[in-house]
Amino acid sequence: MEKRVKKAILPAAGLGTRFLPATKASPKEMLPVVDKPMIQYAVEEANRCGLEEFLFITGKYKRAIEDHFDSAFELEENLRKKGKDALLEEVQRLNHLNFAYIRQRHPLGLGHAILCARPFVKDEPFAVLLSDDIIDPDDNLLGRMISIYDRLLCPVIALEAVPEDDVHRYGIIEKGEEIEDGLFRIKDLVEKPHKKDAPSNLAIIGRYILTPDIFDALQSVQSGKDGEIQLTDGLKAIMGRIPLYGYLFKGKRYDAGDKLGFLKATVELALKDPKLSVPFRRHLDSIVRGT
Ligand code: UTP
Repeated sequence: MEKRVKKAILPAAGLGTRFLPATKASPKEMLPVVDKPMIQYAVEEANRCGLEEFLFITGKYKRAIEDHFDSAFELEENLRKKGKDALLEEVQRLNHLNFAYIRQRHPLGLGHAILCARPFVKDEPFAVLLSDDIIDPDDNLLGRMISIYDRLLCPVIALEAVPEDDVHRYGIIEKGEEIEDGLFRIKDLVEKPHKKDAPSNLAIIGRYILTPDIFDALQSVQSGKDGEIQLTDGLKAIMGRIPLYGYLFKGKRYDAGDKLGFLKATVELALKDPKLSVPFRRHLDSIVRGT
């Protein structure tokens, strides 16, 4: 029987230089968006799709991630004694999940970070979630990608149509056949092209369903001039052997790895929060009106 996607990999070993000095000694992934660290949005998203085994790729100064997903005995006892049941439930909500950690000794690129997951993944398909891409919790992007994988049994990566002026910030695909609405068999990939060389405006965003084929491919990829191994190069390498599919996401994604995107995520998710939405909207209105 074919294997199901059960594991999620969350690479979190990057330096987060766009948020310096905040990320000098604390992880970018722990920056709170409203009341949750951004990496918790990704864990909850994967868990909504039934995934219960999580591997974080961490590095120096990332220990706060481990503490966050551990049980907090003293805090829990304190909340219990004070009868703060709702808060207790909130901090215990993810305690039943399995979390594992592997350290990437040097931040040698996303491809290298994924290669570090090999001993955990073994021979199963797996999901990769980049936590600085926050997908609106009302959208079921990952769930749809998993069901595409279940039908096609080949890697599936998430795509988003981006403005032409932004293509240089992303891996961009060359579309092959559109096998069904919004699902492409990918012909080629180009990392961060100039807009005049971009084969399309379909950018790779931070959700992937991969198969263990990616590991040998990443191993065979040469590191670039900065010593990094890019995931895009690994994906290009497997495309010669197995089909690679791209699923076009039309929902809401926040690029919270960037200051402006982070602010947008904070504002929009706060506006969706049942307790904050009314007073916060009132405050934003007063700013806009200049009162
Ligand atoms: P980014 O490209 O956003 O890099 O990585 P970064 O270091 O996090 O942030 P900036 O660009 O310096 O501001 C995309 C994802 O890949 C992970 C990051 O943690 C992030 O989730 N990553 C990147 C690694 O785990 N290891 C690496 O060597 C590089």
